[in-house]
Amino acid sequence: EKIVLAYSGGLDTSIILKWLKETYDAEIIAFTADIGQKEELDGLEAKALATGASKVYIDDLRAEFASDFIFPMFQAAALYEGQYLLGTSIARPLIAKRMVEIARAEGATMIAHGATGKGNDQVRFELGVAALAPDIKVVAPWREERFREEFPGRAEMIAFAEKHGIPVTASASKPYSTDRNLLHISFESGMLEDPWFDPSAESNEEMYVLSVSPERAPDQAEYVELTFEAGNCIAINGEQLSPLQVMDKLNELGGKHGVGRVDMVENRFVGMKSRGVYETPGGTILFTAHRKMESLTMDREVMNLRDSLISKYAQLVYNGFWFAPERLALQTLVTESQKNVTGVVRLKLYKGNVIGAGVKSPVSLYNPDIATMEADPSQAYDQGDATGFIRLNALRLKVSSGVEQSKK
Ligand code: ARG
Ligand code: SIN
Repeated sequence: EKIVLAYSGGLDTSIILKWLKETYDAEIIAFTADIGQKEELDGLEAKALATGASKVYIDDLRAEFASDFIFPMFQAAALYEGQYLLGTSIARPLIAKRMVEIARAEGATMIAHGATGKGNDQVRFELGVAALAPDIKVVAPWREERFREEFPGRAEMIAFAEKHGIPVTASASKPYSTDRNLLHISFESGMLEDPWFDPSAESNEEMYVLSVSPERAPDQAEYVELTFEAGNCIAINGEQLSPLQVMDKLNELGGKHGVGRVDMVENRFVGMKSRGVYETPGGTILFTAHRKMESLTMDREVMNLRDSLISKYAQLVYNGFWFAPERLALQTLVTESQKNVTGVVRLKLYKGNVIGAGVKSPVSLYNPDIATMEADPSQAYDQGDATGFIRLNALRLKVSSGVEQSKK
């Protein structure tokens, strides 16, 4: 038997590697995706082999993550519960997809992950695998009673690691859990479990990784121009960039100006509320710029329709239905809605704010001749027409109002 394990090199997945090998009497193929977490990947292969893996895959998926996952999601303007840009959620289907590919190449029949039984990630991994490879079995040690009995707390895990020569790094002792990739870093648990705890306090500043606080950001605003083509950012300040380069560049700019911090209590798919803090510097700039590009170029009713689907789309991503038929169908509509979202947006970054500073497009739907308060040179709009337009729209209001009056 072979099991493909999503392996980070951290304490949890190292222990899981060893435990799976013993408990399932299987060959363990360790897989680490580089999705921009900037963790040390050097030495990871040696560590996995030393911990008992028979083979190790370390794959750079950053370009694919940016172009095939982040960018299509940003076309949809997806935002979960009005605040969360879905940084962790959108990475999970990519990891699931690559694990399935590796399982196929290696003849493995099982896939394992280190997500807990209380979170969203388990659902996302497993729905991804189900959609792509219904025959593959998933092993989730944290959901197995024998595993939880062996490791009721941190102390038992550290003791197990020491006994098996697994090095325990400093990050294992951080008082909160993080998840970083190209789009964001998340912080959960520990002191954050108290929703009254203030993560924005100066005393908590060392927690943050991708951004400075607005208070510490430069006093000088900085302009940036994003060029869009069909809803995707293709250049920054006139320089053509790949989706991966766009994310890197915007993260750097946003981080410098304190952009993109979010502190929220969110609803997990499994039913509980959970407190999360996020840094999404580049994503926040991209999200704002994209909306401004749409404001100039998108038809009103197309925008209404797409907007009415934002919460649906965001839920699908959050809940792990990336490869589900309804997400794919929605994407077709979203992508079609973006065909003229083309042009340039100028923004000003200043102490945590992303401020609009101009927008232009070769396919703009904005016509100052029509909108002007001055005499309309195009004659496209006759103010007299508005009289009948209002009268017809008022008709049903008058009828229902009359019924209400007659009741009195
Ligand atoms: N609450 C966020 C989400 O569900 C972040 C999850 C972070 N995951 C993690 N393994 N630390 O998308
Ligand atoms: C986990 O439980 O593994 C992390 C949090 C989440 O998935 O929501």
